[in-house]
Amino acid sequence: MTKRVIILGALSAVAVATARLYAAQGAALTLVARDAGELALLAADLKVRGASAVTPEVLDLAQADPSLLKRWVEARGGCDLVLIAYGTLTDQARAETDLAYGREQLATNFGSAAGWAMAAAAALEAQGHGALVVLGSVAGDRGRGSNYVYGAAKAGLGVLVQGLAHRLAGSGARAVLIKPGFIDTPMTAHLAKSGPLWSKPEAIARVIAKAAVSGGPIVYAPAYWRLILWVIRALPAALVHRTRL
Ligand SMILES: NC(=O)c1ccc[n+]([C@@H]2O[C@H](COP(=O)([O-])OP(=O)(O)OC[C@H]3O[C@@H](n4cnc5c(N)ncnc54)[C@H](OP(=O)(O)O)[C@@H]3O)[C@@H](O)[C@H]2O)c1
Repeated sequence: MTKRVIILGALSAVAVATARLYAAQGAALTLVARDAGELALLAADLKVRGASAVTPEVLDLAQADPSLLKRWVEARGGCDLVLIAYGTLTDQARAETDLAYGREQLATNFGSAAGWAMAAAAALEAQGHGALVVLGSVAGDRGRGSNYVYGAAKAGLGVLVQGLAHRLAGSGARAVLIKPGFIDTPMTAHLAKSGPLWSKPEAIARVIAKAAVSGGPIVYAPAYWRLILWVIRALPAALVHRTRL
């Protein structure tokens, strides 16, 4: 049966890699992003790769009304997967002095994403099947001086999705939070990318596709980040405060 997939933040590198996986299976894709031109190019590419249908929706996900999601699901006769992939890597130094910017970052990465997640959970719960997969981050596992605004948003989103997973248990629908470590994407273009801890978007896409079927509700990507974050969370504050991490 044709899979129906809705991707919020479809132009993210991780979302594109995921969309390609589903296109190759002949899925019908609804792609939501704010750049109409790039979205049209992506839609054409995914059709060539095998997607049975691609419907672009151009909007700013931080501004739009999440009740749109119910309409998209109904218009497509149901949905098998909603992926929430959009996000912004907060400039921590700026957020410390520009409070309006800091609040806007929290509103995008937590407030708006939480709204879409709740709308998706309600739609999937009503139809009694399908998965909500949300991209969080290992940055949400411990507050650090260098990225606590981004980390706080991802931590909040993580608790929300964990709660949604609990709510959906037994309904036939499910919710999963993916916690990636470092991914080589435009979001991290400013960072040096050497070392074994970096992943390609395609690797995270495979984790997403697997999590859409089983596992969770919290999935580290790759799995070794679970152990790394277990150690990081256990470090005493007195030790962490001697660093500038
Ligand atoms: N890269 C990493 O190392 C890493 C690690 C852990 C978690 N993550 C998370 O993984 C997810 C995907 O990130 P990525 O690495 O694939 O980053 P990316 O390629 O930079 O993609 C981020 C996407 O979010 C979109 N976006 C931001 N605000 C939006 C809004 N208000 N409305 C619509 N779209 C919006 C951007 O669209 P525009 O082009 O229109 O701005 C962009 O396409 C994010 O949630 C990120 O926080 C990333």
